[in-house]
Amino acid sequence: MSERCVAWAPGRVNLIGEHTDYSGGLVLPVAIQYGVTVDVSGGEDVITLRSERFGSAEPFAADGSGDPVAGWGRYAQAVAAELAALGRPPAGLSGTVASDLPSGAGLSSSAALEVAIGLALCAVAGFELEPFELALACQRAELRAVGVPCGILDQAASILGRAGHALLLDCGSLEHRLVPVPPEAALVVIDSGVEHSHETSGYTQRRRELEAGVPRRVRHVRTENERVTKFAAVLEHGDLSAAGELLLASHASLRDDYEVSTPELDLLVELALDAGAYGARLLGGGFGGSILALADAGSAQDVGRVAAGEYGRRTGREGQTLVAVPSAGAAVLAGESV
Ligand code: GLA
Repeated sequence: MSERCVAWAPGRVNLIGEHTDYSGGLVLPVAIQYGVTVDVSGGEDVITLRSERFGSAEPFAADGSGDPVAGWGRYAQAVAAELAALGRPPAGLSGTVASDLPSGAGLSSSAALEVAIGLALCAVAGFELEPFELALACQRAELRAVGVPCGILDQAASILGRAGHALLLDCGSLEHRLVPVPPEAALVVIDSGVEHSHETSGYTQRRRELEAGVPRRVRHVRTENERVTKFAAVLEHGDLSAAGELLLASHASLRDDYEVSTPELDLLVELALDAGAYGARLLGGGFGGSILALADAGSAQDVGRVAAGEYGRRTGREGQTLVAVPSAGAAVLAGESV
């Protein structure tokens, strides 16, 4: 008898609070409607996974031990190793990984993969973890897999996000609460078409500079934390104009003090404003990827279409857009004995 399990984990859009997580600051992400689905059966000795987009991963031990496998499979192997360290029995599985999340767009496709795999590994082994234990294990897996010393933003958002809400999270104490996102607020994500990877971007360097106390880096984090608190308050009051101003201030700080923007992201922010957004800023770690524009629900599609169209005319790059909907966090969708 083997246990079938379907686990799903979403990507995220961080409303505000960028590059604040790894110093124990504040973040305000939503889980989105796009994510990663893992459909597996237990009762195996090893872990064998196939991705629709990236092909088969080399099989690896159920406890994640052994040499790191090549390609995307190393994320799954790293999650297995982190869960083994927490006491997960070494139950293997085999199955498929599917995603409707664009990768390299700043929507945390790697965190969604880690969380979905983590949930499936726990389910087939009958192993239970608290949400933050799983989030922290997946955060460590990112470091183990690709050496990126990320914070807990992406994994926490994927696990703790709730429909219609943003998650106000103190990354130091892990205290958190849900903040309703008013239905008239639309979250427009526009991809710059410049793929980024934090393995090769300046992400790790920025973290070191912050820890070394470089004044501009420290100033970004201090002012960004203040903006998160203000943003949560204005969102709760439905004041989208004030929220838009805070997004623009966040972008300026990420551009000038933290220096993680690119000319393409700066241009997209301008174009989103011209197209009628309340405000906009680069999304995620920067160095490429997407912007987030806050728009009125009625004009969201137009803002995305007009800004991406003008961006394409000026740069020759395709700016894919989507409207992110604050959605439920990760879950095991089905588990049955077959
Ligand atoms: C990436 C990291 C997160 C966070 C953001 C910037 O998405 O994975 O932990 O640091 O960048 O806010």
